[in-house]
Amino acid sequence: MSIYETLGRYYDALVRDDGASDRWVEWIESWNPGPEFLELACGSGEITKRLAKKHRITALDLSQTMVDEARSKAEAESDLLPFSFAQGDMRDLSAYGVYDAIGCFCDSFNYLEDEKEVQAFFDEVYAHLKDGGLFFFDSHSMDRLDEFAEDYEEAGEFEDGTQVQWIISAQDRQIYQDFAFYFDGRTVEEHHCQTVFAPEELKTMLEKNFEILSLCGDFDQDELEDVEKYFFVCRAKPHPAKPEA
Ligand SMILES: C[S@@+](CC[C@H](N)C(=O)[O-])C[C@H]1O[C@@H](n2cnc3c(N)ncnc32)[C@H](O)[C@@H]1O
Repeated sequence: MSIYETLGRYYDALVRDDGASDRWVEWIESWNPGPEFLELACGSGEITKRLAKKHRITALDLSQTMVDEARSKAEAESDLLPFSFAQGDMRDLSAYGVYDAIGCFCDSFNYLEDEKEVQAFFDEVYAHLKDGGLFFFDSHSMDRLDEFAEDYEEAGEFEDGTQVQWIISAQDRQIYQDFAFYFDGRTVEEHHCQTVFAPEELKTMLEKNFEILSLCGDFDQDELEDVEKYFFVCRAKPHPAKPEA
């Protein structure tokens, strides 16, 4: 079973935070991104529906459950610009056009497995940005590996009576999130693995095609110590001219 197939149904009940979503959008809008916006790994669409008030959003996610949830939320709003949602893998954007801005939020980036995937992802994003287009993303910080060196455990019950157990642990450069959903007489498990990269390493990879406009911790901290996430804002360098046919 793919990740977020079951978690997607309960994602908002577990982690939805309207204040945090507002803050994400405030941070993004403070950089004045242009009208055409591609959101990768849009999840349940909380940031998407806020961005769609000012931008024509194209949003994708690997999980069909998440895409369906995000689309139905956007359809329930009355003041959004035209939007489109699709199931898709952010590592392959060949079906997509060229945008003023591309974003990948809330540690979705950390589902990329290794440096090779990260560089290919950065190259793919660059290929789908206009000259000067903005690329926003965040990543778990290295501090989180220490934080979850000791298991974090949470358990609870959803409104429909389904129970959940959620364990977060870390080893080497990986953060593991293990979910168990207990339905009436049936248990469904989801095992997530995210990789954490050093900010210097990410900077080096980004600099091939981007100018890094900002790298800070948790939205606005200059220091990258004692923070949960690194926040990157990058600007696409001019694309090389295509050779004449
Ligand atoms: C932690 S959630 C964040 C969702 C959303 N960005 C938000 O702001 O809440 C991570 C999301 O990444 C998606 N995801 C993971 N790997 C992906 C991939 N290769 N391509 C597209 N989406 C992916 C998952 O399906 C999930 O919805």
